[in-house]
Amino acid sequence: MSGNLLLRLVEDFKKIIHRIKKYSTTVKRTFAVGIIEMLPSICGGSIVKKYLLLWNGAKLGKNIIIDKRVLIRNPENLTIGDNVVISHGSVISAGGGIKIGNDVLIGYYAKVISANHNIPDKNEIIRLSGHIYKKITINNDVWIGTSSIILPGVIIGKGAVVAAGAVVTKDVPSYVYVGGVPARVIKSRK
Ligand SMILES: CC(C)(COP(=O)(O)OP(=O)(O)OC[C@H]1O[C@@H](n2cnc3c(N)ncnc32)[C@H](O)[C@@H]1OP(=O)(O)O)[C@@H](O)C(=O)NCCC(=O)NCCS
Repeated sequence: MSGNLLLRLVEDFKKIIHRIKKYSTTVKRTFAVGIIEMLPSICGGSIVKKYLLLWNGAKLGKNIIIDKRVLIRNPENLTIGDNVVISHGSVISAGGGIKIGNDVLIGYYAKVISANHNIPDKNEIIRLSGHIYKKITINNDVWIGTSSIILPGVIIGKGAVVAAGAVVTKDVPSYVYVGGVPARVIKSRK
């Protein structure tokens, strides 16, 4: 076998190994995401979910409850503190990174989405134009109301309340309630 051919063979072999590695990460992640979604939080479900998330690179504190039907995408970019509840039907899409502090409550069907599709010029299509990732930070002692949506890049201040159905497009100061679409401050905590 000539030296050139051997070199090409080694290069191709490296590519194959790279693809296998890439694929195995996807399989591992998809498996974990599916089980986390299916399992209830009771009867040891929370413990199983914790290890599935840790296995996929999430950073987790203590006493985290993740209800059934919670969809967690890209757990490798997810950090959750202590005493956190993520309620039924919520979506935590952590492609751009999501950091959830301590004592945070996420209500039913809330969505925390850390990526946008990139919008190209009119002559190209959105589907093929990639994503723009922006980290979301939810500080300690925050309550995110049911069916609200937290958009990429938002920082939610300590002690804030996000009212039901709010669409949060901008940072939220500490100790205020925000509500509406787009979310605005509706009152402050005493
Ligand atoms: C945010 C919330 C806690 C506020 O309750 P509250 O302290 O009783 O608030 P108030 O009734 O004093 O409302 C204050 C103002 O905010 C407005 N407001 C209340 N909820 C709102 C909402 N979801 N969206 C927009 N505005 C809202 C009120 O109309 C009121 O406006 P006004 O001053 O012009 O009359 C509550 O409305 C809410 O959204 N709860 C979420 C419930 C939930 O998600 N439960 C799931 C548990 S996991």
